[in-house]
Amino acid sequence: MTPDRRTFLTSAGLAALAVGTAAVTSGCTSSGSGGSAAPGTSASLSVPVDSIPVGGGVILDNASFVVTQPTAGEFRAFNKMCTHQGCPVSSIEGATIVCRCHGAHFSITDGSVTQGPATKPLRAATAVLDGAEVRVSAT
Ligand code: FES
Repeated sequence: MTPDRRTFLTSAGLAALAVGTAAVTSGCTSSGSGGSAAPGTSASLSVPVDSIPVGGGVILDNASFVVTQPTAGEFRAFNKMCTHQGCPVSSIEGATIVCRCHGAHFSITDGSVTQGPATKPLRAATAVLDGAEVRVSAT
């Protein structure tokens, strides 16, 4: 049985909350986002490997990261704030990170822009495999 995207978002968010190392604030009203750590902070958190789909990724509800797994065992992380006008990205559709504010698309592999209006890639974060978890922090 394969969990749907909402399950991934929820499980990743709960896992991050359980670890409790991310700065968690509320106030974001976008659907699927429960808060975020301030971009550029040194907050780190752990995300279960099994919550990050191969060929896709997960947008963390309670931290400012997108964590992706372009190929099995290869993990990447990016700041989830769109480089166009700062909306948090909305979804991951296949190998594409989507910002619905104005339609920008980014690669799950390197955060590069695959469709405008954004012109700059998502800001890279650090993703390190640690057993059954991926430790994510701002670079
Ligand atoms: S803020 Fe993301 S496309 Fe405009």
